[in-house]
Amino acid sequence: MHLQYSLFYLSHAVLTTTALVPFHPLQERQIGQACTTLDGAGTCQNTADCTTQGFNLAGYCPGPADIQCCIKQTCNTGSSSGICMNTSDKCGGSFVPGFCPGDSTIQCCTSSSSSSSSSSPPPSSGSGASLVAAAVAEEGLPYVWGGGGCDGPSDGGFDCSGLTQYATCKSGHGLIPRTAQTQYDSPMGEHLARADAEAGDLIFWADGGDCVGSVAHVGIFMREGWMVNAAETGTPVREQSIWSSSGGESICPDAVRFW
Ligand SMILES: *[C@@H]1O[C@H](CO)[C@@H](O)[C@H](O)[C@H]1NC(C)=O
Repeated sequence: MHLQYSLFYLSHAVLTTTALVPFHPLQERQIGQACTTLDGAGTCQNTADCTTQGFNLAGYCPGPADIQCCIKQTCNTGSSSGICMNTSDKCGGSFVPGFCPGDSTIQCCTSSSSSSSSSSPPPSSGSGASLVAAAVAEEGLPYVWGGGGCDGPSDGGFDCSGLTQYATCKSGHGLIPRTAQTQYDSPMGEHLARADAEAGDLIFWADGGDCVGSVAHVGIFMREGWMVNAAETGTPVREQSIWSSSGGESICPDAVRFW
């Protein structure tokens, strides 16, 4: 990667010198480059240029630490619209959690300063909303294999089904089984088509699409296209877009409701 950049820079420098075009630092070569993260696609930019238009994610762009992946994403809380920003940056209106990807530091900065505050409940209505809220409150905790249960995290974190067991329990909807497959199979739950899922329903993925015997992952549906989940080692409890298949796992046609 670096070699490629140096070579590119070198040829660029030679060209620009002969053409007497002003010298451009190497840094500029990286600005504007596309970057793809688990929380969305963006463009490599100076962090300062992004803070009021989106949010920065470190680790996706080459070059100095102040060049990061800038992700510009709009959000709509139902009562107002805004852009997803880091809560450590200045929002002209109010930050509302639960409508942006990433951990709890990324929230919807809405232009209206009236209705919403940073303590507003997450999206959704109906009693499944409390289940979503219980999971959202844990965002940022690490993924820990076998972690979590009715009482909260264990070893400081959750795995996928530990998070769903916790959120269901915490929101007063009972103690469901501990693993993704047993949650999918539990008679406590009501199966419905995933297309009819509402906030708080559990959605599942299975190895090779075998939802009868190989359910391997579970997340909590928030709204069309979005879930909160503890996905895998290295990613914290977070909101992310619902994926249909990855790494040999495919999404199951049924959602399961415990509320
Ligand atoms: C939000 O900003 C804080 C402070 O700069 C930083 O520690 C945190 O990692 C940022 N959030 C994300 C998701 O990058």
